Amino acid sequence: MNMSTLQTAFQDLFHALPEKAFFAPGRINLIGEHTDYNGGHVFPCAITYGTYAVARKRKDRKVRLYSVNFPDKGIIEFNLNQLDYEKQHNWANYPKGMIRYIVDAGNEVPTGFECVIQGNIPNGAGLSSSASIELLTGVLLNGLFELAIPRIDLIKLGKKVENEFIGVNSGIMDQFAVGMGKKDVGILLDCQTLKYEYAPIQLENHKIIIMNTNKRRELADSKYNERRSECEEALSQLQQKLPIEALGQLSEVEFDENQHIITSETVRKRAKHAVYENVRTMKALGELKAGNLEAFGQSMNQSHISLRDDYEVTGVELDRLVEAAWRQPGVIGARMTGAGFGGCAIAIVENEAVENFIANVGTAYLDEIGYVADFYVASIGDGAKEIEL
Ligand code: GLA
Repeated sequence: MNMSTLQTAFQDLFHALPEKAFFAPGRINLIGEHTDYNGGHVFPCAITYGTYAVARKRKDRKVRLYSVNFPDKGIIEFNLNQLDYEKQHNWANYPKGMIRYIVDAGNEVPTGFECVIQGNIPNGAGLSSSASIELLTGVLLNGLFELAIPRIDLIKLGKKVENEFIGVNSGIMDQFAVGMGKKDVGILLDCQTLKYEYAPIQLENHKIIIMNTNKRRELADSKYNERRSECEEALSQLQQKLPIEALGQLSEVEFDENQHIITSETVRKRAKHAVYENVRTMKALGELKAGNLEAFGQSMNQSHISLRDDYEVTGVELDRLVEAAWRQPGVIGARMTGAGFGGCAIAIVENEAVENFIANVGTAYLDEIGYVADFYVASIGDGAKEIEL
């Protein structure tokens, strides 16, 4: 990202120099999918693609926001006294919701501000551009107004924006990864307790490749909420016998012994994924720590299969992409990442094999699906922060 472009845009729009600059990343999830809202473990990392902002305080109560990514929306303006969701405010509802909940939590935002934003996270790809903009707003308010809101509170407020302001019933993984990411480490997070541990990802001989299906994620939110309620149904049936608060508390054996309590076969499959995926994620951390990348790759593959067959959130585009990836030489493992129903998959690939990998998987996908996939090499980077102007 060229910060001077962002500064020039700011000067052109607001006829003044910005005071400060901020960045918040996107994320990929290495393993642990659809486990966060089931009280299980996830293993995401922040990536160096993300969202940038330059900003300065105003003297009045106006907030004026402009996104280089959405020039047709122009400058979106609202007042600190009126922070309700408004459809015509479009993308700006994410920062607006964040300001709203930061103010509601009792923090003093004494004046408005103006701000230019630009992101380089591939659009609609399921790499958490919305969590990125939520946490970006959090560090921006902290930085401009010296609010000192703890990071974990910003993460929880970001989730609240998603759940209550925007209306998507997502878990805590995305905001946590965007808020807590660090260069070259993954985060093993227990979503029930929010205890976490950083695990170095040392991939001297390999690259993480992000593969974008370019499939629009229509219906994604309704299917997402449907999976959530299926898991809630499984939990409440299991609770008739077991003293558990979340599916993530069960071992595979405990699940197998009690699965007959779940009356619907579909719901049973959903719960099986939640339990097995959680166990797989904890195991994957051990594999990585032991330097056993091959075993880690196998766990990634198993994760995809479970998401395909039991959780049924992959869809033909992600399946063809991941299957093509599995067939290539030099591939350690590949799986969908994020919510599914389109969006992105990831693969770990040997350095020397990357070029052929991208060419071959790209050709296979185009042949089978009829439009192109995009490929990016992922670097694991820092979480949301103030940066140099
Ligand atoms: C989306 C949600 C997350 C998580 C994943 C699936 O990214 O925002 O909370 O549930 O899907 O693992």
